[in-house]
Amino acid sequence: MEISNYFFTILTILLFISHANPTSASKVPQTYTSFIKKSCNTTTYPTLCVKTLYPYASTVKTNSIRLCNAALLVAIQSTGNCSTTVLKLASGKNISRPDASALKNCIGDLKDAVYELRQTVSAMRHLRDADKEFQWDNAKTYASAAITDAETCIDEVSDRRVNQNVMNKIRDCVSGVEKHISNALSLINHLY
Ligand SMILES: *[C@@H]1O[C@H](CO)[C@@H](O)[C@H](O)[C@H]1NC(C)=O
Ligand SMILES: *[C@@H]1O[C@H](CO)[C@@H](O)[C@H](O)[C@H]1NC(C)=O
Ligand SMILES: *[C@@H]1O[C@H](CO)[C@@H](O)[C@H](O)[C@H]1NC(C)=O
Repeated sequence: MEISNYFFTILTILLFISHANPTSASKVPQTYTSFIKKSCNTTTYPTLCVKTLYPYASTVKTNSIRLCNAALLVAIQSTGNCSTTVLKLASGKNISRPDASALKNCIGDLKDAVYELRQTVSAMRHLRDADKEFQWDNAKTYASAAITDAETCIDEVSDRRVNQNVMNKIRDCVSGVEKHISNALSLINHLY
């Protein structure tokens, strides 16, 4: 069940991407871009929200659930990107073995975050079911858990007092991840 659910989620995301060819904003009806602006206005990082979601305007149209899914997709991508960044830092020549081990724990936390975000996407697919309230609560819980995972990564690396240069790079990318997830969560919170 877990495995098939996982693949179904991936499939959903792939289908979503294949329909979501980012188009230049000028070709998109203003109704769609206004919808994104208005929806992003309720998030903690509205400028980032608008910038990252505009490319999905023609797919999202004025559908709030699709907008949430686009935001979740961006959050998943950003978490994956950050994971790659941390992996590069962890395998750098300039890093001590204990520091590298703290970074690997951080990568584990980011993987957990991606898992929670995929669970969020799964819950979002069931919002038209009879147990809508339950699924909506689940989506919020999973997205919050993903933020906690990202915070755990930072805590772990801070506790190790890894070299400042490495620390700053990790802080930058993880704080980006947290902003994207936080925006997705705001959009989910404002769905109904
Ligand atoms: C965003 O919110 C502010 C304050 O609530 C409001 O003044 C502004 O008109 C809103 N912008 C959009 C695009 O909805
Ligand atoms: C993730 O990385 C890819 C490839 O570098 C880039 O195109 C994409 O914009 C990044 N996405 C986010 C959300 O950071
Ligand atoms: C390697 O570590 C030293 C000391 O922490 C630092 O000054 C230097 O900038 C690092 N080099 C690279 C390539 O990160």
